[in-house]
Amino acid sequence: MTPLWTSADLAAATGAPLPGFDATGVSIDSRTLAPGDLFVALIGENGDGHAHVGAALARGAAGAMVHRDASRDRLLRVADTLGGLQALGRFARARATAARVIAVTGSVGKTTTKEMLRTMLGALAPTHAAAASYNNQWGVPLTLARMPREASFAIIEIGMNHAGEIAPLSRLAAPHVAVITAIERAHIGHLGSIEAIADEKAAVVTGLLPGGTVVLPADSPLLGRLRARAGTARVVLFGTDAAADVRLLECTADADGSAIAARIGGEDVRIRLGAPGTHMAMNAMAALACVHALGLDVRRAATALAGFAPMRGRGARQRLAIAGGEILLLDESYNASAASVRAALQVLALQPAARRVAVLGDMLELGDEAEREHSAIASSVVSAADMVFTCGPLMRGLHDSLPDRIRGVHADDSATLAPIVVAALRPGDAVLVKGSLGSRMIRVVQALTAPPNAVEQVR
Ligand SMILES: Nc1ncnc2c1ncn2[C@@H]1O[C@H](COP(=O)(O)OP(=O)(O)OP(=O)(O)O)[C@@H](O)[C@H]1O
Ligand SMILES: [Mg+2]
Repeated sequence: MTPLWTSADLAAATGAPLPGFDATGVSIDSRTLAPGDLFVALIGENGDGHAHVGAALARGAAGAMVHRDASRDRLLRVADTLGGLQALGRFARARATAARVIAVTGSVGKTTTKEMLRTMLGALAPTHAAAASYNNQWGVPLTLARMPREASFAIIEIGMNHAGEIAPLSRLAAPHVAVITAIERAHIGHLGSIEAIADEKAAVVTGLLPGGTVVLPADSPLLGRLRARAGTARVVLFGTDAAADVRLLECTADADGSAIAARIGGEDVRIRLGAPGTHMAMNAMAALACVHALGLDVRRAATALAGFAPMRGRGARQRLAIAGGEILLLDESYNASAASVRAALQVLALQPAARRVAVLGDMLELGDEAEREHSAIASSVVSAADMVFTCGPLMRGLHDSLPDRIRGVHADDSATLAPIVVAALRPGDAVLVKGSLGSRMIRVVQALTAPPNAVEQVR
């Protein structure tokens, strides 16, 4: 079998001299690379990858892409390694001539929608998709550079923190279908207004191939704005609105998932989704709209959604054996915005439990709107939770505003809060842990899942 990257292709893609090695994969992290990978020495926030070239080769890397450290064997020398990675991505995209590519962007639900598409399309044909949430200036080209030539489908997540980031990534992905999952106030600190967020997400149409389709949220107040920016592209709508081509008619949520009635291209379809919450049902509609836009068998694809479970940090559910019984953990530690906190609280409310406990860390990157966004979730917190623990300076106000009967402890940070939560939980509790990645609520999850507590994944 031809390796993912032959020496000739590496040279052709980057314009560099023949490196004299083939690579079976691509990695940017010497700690996790697999033998045979090309190690790309990127310069990033966490340091300079050139310092780890030796370690990468010692771990079995086939070779390394560098723009410094010229005196070694097995090097692919380029002017700039980020540019070199982008060149690999562009080349890999162009040579995967059979691949039908879907670009996924939006304020929330990108990774979840991407994974639903992986589940559905992977049941039909060989499917390539981004690892984890890889959606930025290195994540998108890395994902493309890893795409096998023979992929039938590829799902590329595209994200942004700042204006201007999405268009070049969309051009690189050159999608047949571009989906915007939702427009919410996440990252508003950098963008300034919800309209600016909508315009930035709409830039995902920039790289759409001729004859391509844009999938848009029918229920968004910003639909008109998004549609105007879709230009001449075909538009497919998903949502509850009567105008939706993929329409959610009914969603009956239980603790383990939802029974969904949908109308897709005029046909009624019943779907079991193995992830609870109407936000998950809406992500499923977005994913099904992509399947529909590609002209595939929607019914067949949808059956795979019964086996879809929320991912770690994004709603994964675990049963933990603690002294005297069990608790249920909803791990939402990866990410938080007001929209996703409300969605998670709705799932907490669905869980049969002696007490429903919410453990909330700060929602970050909200700029001037931080205070308002934190107080905006108060009513959802009060209606879903029997006990609330908080940490971080932004959550202080929420803590103070809670009624005495549900107000737990507030701590400065998650490390201080973690043992307090562990000590407070009782058998029969369901506990939701949520906050922005930077709030490090993972420490609470780690404290809860550490021995002697035993962990069992719920599907
Ligand atoms: N449609 C939705 N509405 C509200 N919340 C959602 C929705 N979809 C997912 N969420 C919640 O938002 C959080 C982030 O989900 P996910 O990782 O899928 O989003 P993302 O857009 O990929 O985020 P990121 O910008 O960090 O890559 C999770 O807690 C998830 O449960
Ligand atoms: Mg993501």
